[in-house]
Amino acid sequence: MAYKIEVKNLVKIFGSRPGMALDRLKKGWTKQDILNKTGQTVGVNNVSFSVKEGEIFVIIGLSGSGKSTLIRCLNLLNKPTSGQIIVDGEDIVKYDKKQLREFRQKKMAMVFQQFGLFTHRTVLGNVEYGLEIRGIDKEKRYQIAMEAIEEVGLKGWEEKMPSELSGGMQQRVGLARALANDPDILLMDEPFSALDPLIRRDMQLELLDLQDRLKKTIIFITHDINEAFKLGDRVAVMRDGEIVQIGTPEEILENPSNEYIEDFVRDIDRTKIVQAKDIMKKPNAIVSLKDGVNVAIKEMQSNDISSVFVIGKDRKLKGIVTIDDCIKAAKEKRSSLEDILRDDYYTTKGDVYIQDLIEKATKAKYPIVVTDDNEKMIGIIVRTSILSGLLQKGA
Ligand SMILES: Nc1ncnc2c1ncn2[C@@H]1O[C@H](COP(=O)(O)OP(=O)(O)OP(=O)(O)O)[C@@H](O)[C@H]1O
Ligand SMILES: [Mg+2]
Repeated sequence: MAYKIEVKNLVKIFGSRPGMALDRLKKGWTKQDILNKTGQTVGVNNVSFSVKEGEIFVIIGLSGSGKSTLIRCLNLLNKPTSGQIIVDGEDIVKYDKKQLREFRQKKMAMVFQQFGLFTHRTVLGNVEYGLEIRGIDKEKRYQIAMEAIEEVGLKGWEEKMPSELSGGMQQRVGLARALANDPDILLMDEPFSALDPLIRRDMQLELLDLQDRLKKTIIFITHDINEAFKLGDRVAVMRDGEIVQIGTPEEILENPSNEYIEDFVRDIDRTKIVQAKDIMKKPNAIVSLKDGVNVAIKEMQSNDISSVFVIGKDRKLKGIVTIDDCIKAAKEKRSSLEDILRDDYYTTKGDVYIQDLIEKATKAKYPIVVTDDNEKMIGIIVRTSILSGLLQKGA
């Protein structure tokens, strides 16, 4: 897959003599030494990473680790001290003013933690702003802005002022404003950190929905590891201006590359990260509706189980039969499974978090069935896998 963004050996040093600090950095001085001896601050230290098209790439790290400095380099709000930022094959660090203006207007948009709305403009006025700057005519502007407003669920609020909206709604305006220019890339610097936890959770889910529909390339900053793992296709961990690990949430969780990351991971609530598809198994036994009760009995006996799921054409789930019902039917010379199908089991989709399965698991008599959007059976979850999914690694 092509990379949308490739960052190579990016360095950003703040201060009056960045060149000198850069030399020291190359000689292996630490960020702290450089600060102490030269007064220059290393914001980003030799960072390289690539982001795939359509990916949500999350950057996490403690306060001061360089997250904002890095993301601000990506739209050149910060001018890199050295290194390359290649977007769609072009090094944007080399762009002249005109190219850069075009790039910011069309390709990349940013959403900020403190919303950054114009207080004297309506919701619509805020969302239209970028389109105005681009000289798009009034009618077209209105149409595009209204679409973006609808996209973020704010239809009906377009004539309100930002001060009349809650924090969550204000951030939706920020998002709509970014979306109005239809950028390929969204940069989001702790966009949900100012929101209270429930609203924050809603916004996270909505961002995932939005991403399903719009398929942007998103770089998302947070210092909340649960948020990082919920949203990120891949996550980069920053420390002292460097990226110390990049991986999928599962990879980082299973294999934290050092103590710093282990500390982060310790805060994780696995129930909010592990999904049904991560813990499901292929069922050992399964019977088809066209098989009779005798086949079902044999299948259960040879697998030492007392119930078995029944599927129809195309692996569509039809129900479950128990050994008792099957034996009774066999004695009465009734061979059809259809007549003894039960439906008192639970199903789930693969992307449901185990946090939301615990209640079902405690009530369930049978394994929980994982189905796809066409109700095809793709796996089962037994109660013990939910319990072991809950256990922290090493705890
Ligand atoms: N404009 C600036 N001038 C001088 N130093 C700066 C500037 N911006 C950031 N820094 C320094 O760069 C380092 C990284 O800061 P940055 O704001 O990128 O961290 P962060 O990871 O975004 O932190 P937070 O989670 O608090 O937002 C810090 O040492 C900071 O003091
Ligand atoms: Mg920051």
